[in-house]
Amino acid sequence: MTQLQGKKILLAISGSIAAYKMPELVRRFVKAGAEVKVIMTASAADFVSPLVLNTVSKNQVLNAVHEAASWNNHVALGRWADVMLVAPCSANTLAKLANGLCDNLLCAVYLSSTCPVFIAPAMDEDMWAHPATKRNLETVRSFGNKIIPVGYGELASGLIGEGRLAEIENIVAEVEAFLQENTSSVFNGQKVLITAGPTYEKLDPVRFIGNHSTGKMGIALAQIFAEQGAEVKLVLGPTSLRPKHPSITTVSVESASEMLVAAEQDFSDFDIAIFAAAVADYRPQKMATQKIKKTDEALEIKLQRTVDILKTLAARKSADQTIVGFALETQNEEENARKKLQEKAADMIVLNSLRDIGAGFGHDTNQVTIFRVDGKEEKFPLQSKTDTARAIVQSIIDYRNAKKNV
Ligand code: CTP
Repeated sequence: MTQLQGKKILLAISGSIAAYKMPELVRRFVKAGAEVKVIMTASAADFVSPLVLNTVSKNQVLNAVHEAASWNNHVALGRWADVMLVAPCSANTLAKLANGLCDNLLCAVYLSSTCPVFIAPAMDEDMWAHPATKRNLETVRSFGNKIIPVGYGELASGLIGEGRLAEIENIVAEVEAFLQENTSSVFNGQKVLITAGPTYEKLDPVRFIGNHSTGKMGIALAQIFAEQGAEVKLVLGPTSLRPKHPSITTVSVESASEMLVAAEQDFSDFDIAIFAAAVADYRPQKMATQKIKKTDEALEIKLQRTVDILKTLAARKSADQTIVGFALETQNEEENARKKLQEKAADMIVLNSLRDIGAGFGHDTNQVTIFRVDGKEEKFPLQSKTDTARAIVQSIIDYRNAKKNV
């Protein structure tokens, strides 16, 4: 039995000449036991017959949000799939995905999908080499999408070069390897709590004290844990970003005190708790019930400490629970991180320094050093937040294994 047996694959075809190869891809998936639904853009139909795809997938091919008398529910389609595969992904569709455009069914489903997304680009060499394409590719990669590398060879233009759609057997193999990795998951049956994003502390009904955190790092961690089988509760401060995985339950909060309430609920049920949120250390002592009007005088606002969520919950941890905190520093980074590890009774502290270019708030990349309570320290290079999340998750696995073997 292959990993594809019983899996739901949503194949999204865009307008590239390589679309003519898709019936063969569908046939391979179906033969391996997968259920395949196909959506396509209008221009994809110039390169491959919807009727052939209907027949090989044994499902009605969809290509418009509104079709004749029915409404194609893009949210339901996005949630139906175990894997979404955009193949071939033309330069135009790639640009739309990277920028969140939503002018056809394929884009709408992409934006609504909660499953892992693979992108198999196909285009002529010059388009492939253009900086705009490279940038778009990096953007979708930063969303956590998996890119299936293009091939080298003869192109539709007759030129020889890079940009060909990956070979059909390579596409099948990439999807299968991914499913394999995720089925043999280390976190099956485990529960993970993650706090992420900023907190907003209200001054009055229209103003707040906040910070620049976007929640990207915590969301990337949630995604990796979920992909490896964990059931994740993500307590997320105000941000427009959202994770995309059915095993992640997101609890949206605004202030530090709301975050504490959400994080401490059923805390003892969690195997691992990661505190990636940039929680405000202070909040206004009083929130004005009406908008504060300006005067000619200076305005003084008294602030009071918020509860340290990490410290409070780490104090309640059981021997089997693993607690991970973050430290964002601007000076004496390592010393402060080691101090935090002790003071907060965490198992691990993930340090990022604002002095490292490309690390910290808002970036798609991060550079971290992990300090473990068992004395081990690991330094990682500047890499995408998804790869940083993978490194942190691996370090947690190593730490938990080392603890078991003591
Ligand atoms: N944290 C928390 N609750 C708070 C404050 C921080 O859970 N009220 C957590 C963060 O999620 C992060 C870690 O504690 O995991 C950060 O430690 P902290 O000491 O708050 O860092 P700084 O605010 O940078 O501390 P300092 O001002 O002392 O440098």
